[in-house]
Amino acid sequence: MRTTTLFNDNWIFSEGFGNDALTAMRAGEAVRLPHNAVDLPFNYFDEKCYQRAFTYQKVITWQPEFEGREVSVVFDGAMADAEVFLNGEPVIAHKDGYTPFEARLTGRLKQGDNLLTVKIDGSENPEIPPFGGRIDYLTYAGIYRDAWLKITTPVSIRHAKIETQDTLSAAKGVTVRVDLCNPAERTLSGTLHVTLKDGEKVIASTSQPVSAVRQTFAFSGLTGLSLWEPENPQLYTAEIRLETEAGTDELSATFGFRTAEFTVEGFKLNGKLLKIRGLNRHQAWPYSGYAMGRRAQERDAEILKNDLKCNLVRTSHYPQSPWFLDHCDRIGLLVFEEIPGWQHIGGDEWKAESVRNVERMITRDWNHPSIILWGVRINESQDSHDFYAETNRVARETDPTRQTGGVRFITESEFLEDVYTMNDFYLGSEEMPGANHSRTPLRDQQVCTGLPTKVPYMVTEFNGHMYPTKRHDQEQRQAEHVTRHLQVLNAMYGDRSISGAIGWCAFDYNTHKDFGSGDRICHHGVMDMFREPKFAAFAYASQCEPDDGVILKPVTFWARGERNIGGIMPLIVLTNCDEVEFVYGPHLRKRVGPDRETYPHLPHPPVVIDRRHFSAQELGSWGMAWEDGEIIGYIDGKPVASVTFAGGAVPTRLEVAADEETLPAATKDQLRIVVRALDQMGNLLPFLDEPVSVHVNGPARILGPATLVLSGGSSGFWLESTGGTGPVEVTVSSPRFASQTIRVTAV
Ligand code: GAL
Repeated sequence: MRTTTLFNDNWIFSEGFGNDALTAMRAGEAVRLPHNAVDLPFNYFDEKCYQRAFTYQKVITWQPEFEGREVSVVFDGAMADAEVFLNGEPVIAHKDGYTPFEARLTGRLKQGDNLLTVKIDGSENPEIPPFGGRIDYLTYAGIYRDAWLKITTPVSIRHAKIETQDTLSAAKGVTVRVDLCNPAERTLSGTLHVTLKDGEKVIASTSQPVSAVRQTFAFSGLTGLSLWEPENPQLYTAEIRLETEAGTDELSATFGFRTAEFTVEGFKLNGKLLKIRGLNRHQAWPYSGYAMGRRAQERDAEILKNDLKCNLVRTSHYPQSPWFLDHCDRIGLLVFEEIPGWQHIGGDEWKAESVRNVERMITRDWNHPSIILWGVRINESQDSHDFYAETNRVARETDPTRQTGGVRFITESEFLEDVYTMNDFYLGSEEMPGANHSRTPLRDQQVCTGLPTKVPYMVTEFNGHMYPTKRHDQEQRQAEHVTRHLQVLNAMYGDRSISGAIGWCAFDYNTHKDFGSGDRICHHGVMDMFREPKFAAFAYASQCEPDDGVILKPVTFWARGERNIGGIMPLIVLTNCDEVEFVYGPHLRKRVGPDRETYPHLPHPPVVIDRRHFSAQELGSWGMAWEDGEIIGYIDGKPVASVTFAGGAVPTRLEVAADEETLPAATKDQLRIVVRALDQMGNLLPFLDEPVSVHVNGPARILGPATLVLSGGSSGFWLESTGGTGPVEVTVSSPRFASQTIRVTAV
């Protein structure tokens, strides 16, 4: 039987490169994977600090079970340019930082101890995508994903590719293509069994004698099965069993039944039109870069789906963690996945590597029902006919079931893909020197494509650098940030030929000096790096239906003098309620409905309260008392949500909130904890920028410094397991508030 066990513990990490002996090991530091070679400060750092070579070493002691079997170490991802050695001898090299690779150790392992060495080079090698130009994100060095020790029979199952047929019919079909791995080129014999299952229940099963390294199994007439849909992401498994004289090998793969098609009328999931409302995501976190564990990856998917109410995420600009994608399958979040790259196209070897990235990405991920489109261009690069003809050819050949896209920002670019995927940063460009157009959220697709007819089309980025906004920026700027996201979403909803729009971006991210606010952060997220929402987060969230969550978010800090000239009007209330009641002081009340005039196409236009509803006098002016307030949301005439505001906010308590009550301990994983300074109404104190100290008691540590400064009234950190199980007490103290202790359990 196959064993695939995590191979994350007991690595020795050292600076520079040496593989000859155990010297590095003696000098190195014991680490667990996923590992970040250089932890960065939150902001203001020199990104060159990780752009150099590092060595990871680990002793593999001979085990009797290796005898007569295939033994390999699988790396889910290492950044970048990895070379693996066993006992000083080269085994495999892998340039790409985002796709997996397997070091085959069979025949090389000796009795006793063996030294496995992995050299990784974090420098921006211009021979490897995405490097060679400048990129607006960081590629943190390290073996930053899981590693696995895999032991199989000499002939084993390489992978399975599952396709569905008659997907929308009552009687469905499935084909399972099984590829075998036969590195020693043995004569093939034995039997392959494929069983389709719904949980533990067998749906269908079939067998074939082993005759070739590639065999296909077809099932038809399968009834009583459910589609994979965002609201009900039903998954099934295919269990593959290979029986040979040398033993049995098993592999199971998850799949779903769904059709996905971008058309000139929009995107259709399972034959039904679905407007795509998405955000771009970098797989990056403060301090630890890319090196976050399974649960932290999954949590990001949950934030996008459950908090931001998006139906799609774009994995900008590279294949992301398998844990993240698995979770997208489970929770019903659509994915647009793309190859690594950013604007720059390198030479012939670079392009060849990029084409290989297409194949590796698709082969790794072809069974994910959540993935509906492959991005096979270097994000925002210029046209390059032969290169992109080839990436498209390879994508279509590797996976004929999905369409291709390729993200560009140039107009009239050569359309070699199935979907014209366009970064439309037109909104805001009217302010550019020499511009002679008025403010327009999105351009007509044919203005961008230059094509005589409409084609399948999606907007893959907007806003971002056109309007960077921090969570603690002035209220007025944040209201404009919100407005810009709403305007693009409204334009997208109003144009049938636009399949959807994917905003730039979900979370603020660390970047190179050539981008961002000079602090090595692009403050482009609708959430900050701790995944705390800016107001713009609710521009997305409020588009969900109330049965998926009632959203009521007034875009205000509720103060007389925060905006220019003063007051809080026009007040945008991001909500999916039918109407809201605005209450100011003891006497003034007014019900206002959604602003359908300005946002006719949004599923849930915001309520905008302004001079049409109140005179300036009614709200008083500079020199008059500032009152308490309340915003109440109504659905079907009934109050369903409310937010109260204090006319005189005073610091009242620290909120310390963990995402979950448990922290996985068997693996290196992280749990997010957010600290918020709240007033007497439970609202954030947005300018209370004071320090808090965190003390952890139990088998966990905090990532980043133990003293944090609240910014925009809050801050956060990730708690990381240190291996043991049991209670973990986290105490947050501050000069201003009573300290707070929360308890979670490392399990
Ligand atoms: C785009 C690019 C993104 C990011 C964004 C900022 O041009 O594709 O990676 O840099 O701009 O708005």
